[in-house]
Amino acid sequence: MSDAAMAKRDAGFRAADMVKDGMVIGLGTGSTVFFAMERLGERIKTEGLKIAGVPTSHQTAQRAEEYGIPLTTLSLHPKLDLAIDGADQVSPEKYLVKGRGAALLREKIVADAADKFIVVIDESKSVTGLSAAIPLEVLPFAYGSVCRRLKELGGDPVMRNGVKKDGPVISDNGNYIFDCAFGNITDPKALEDAINAIPGILECGIFAKLTEKTTVIIGKPSA
Ligand code: 5RP
Repeated sequence: MSDAAMAKRDAGFRAADMVKDGMVIGLGTGSTVFFAMERLGERIKTEGLKIAGVPTSHQTAQRAEEYGIPLTTLSLHPKLDLAIDGADQVSPEKYLVKGRGAALLREKIVADAADKFIVVIDESKSVTGLSAAIPLEVLPFAYGSVCRRLKELGGDPVMRNGVKKDGPVISDNGNYIFDCAFGNITDPKALEDAINAIPGILECGIFAKLTEKTTVIIGKPSA
């Protein structure tokens, strides 16, 4: 396993060990949170840990089945004890960029529903300031006007295209994903608000409003 993968596993396992019996938890998407789910699966088998998870993507739901993690819904559990998720960039203020896996809309809904938000990363995701292109979930009907508005905000929106599929990536919710570069982001909260105010944008990959309940775990390769 590479150093980066070992660091992700360390972060994921440490997050899974914070989960207590009886909790209902949000399950993010991505390779780091899948390590947390692997460890939760082990704890369910060996300790009899009783939990239920709300998955943020089809892929996470499939992994949960594989690891034996019972699933539930936000309709049954509108308030979650905690959510575990990865991130693409994390600033010292705990502002995040998320959405490489195109799951940002459900990830933000689930993080918002949780009392505590555990972000699991390897060191490469820790940055002094956010600068990554921001993933955006966009209603297909509106993408032309959305792009015009994003350019007025100083962004450079690029439609995300499939790798083994021609044309646009379609999210689990049936929408387009754009990646929009803004250079160095000096005021993430203001930019998150400005982007989310554009009609047709369903969610923005800046997570700047959750800092008070966020704990960041940075995994170590040697652990
Ligand atoms: C998916 C995400 C992921 O959590 C983020 O991209 C981190 O992924 P990984 O843990 O594989 O590095 O936001 O939409």
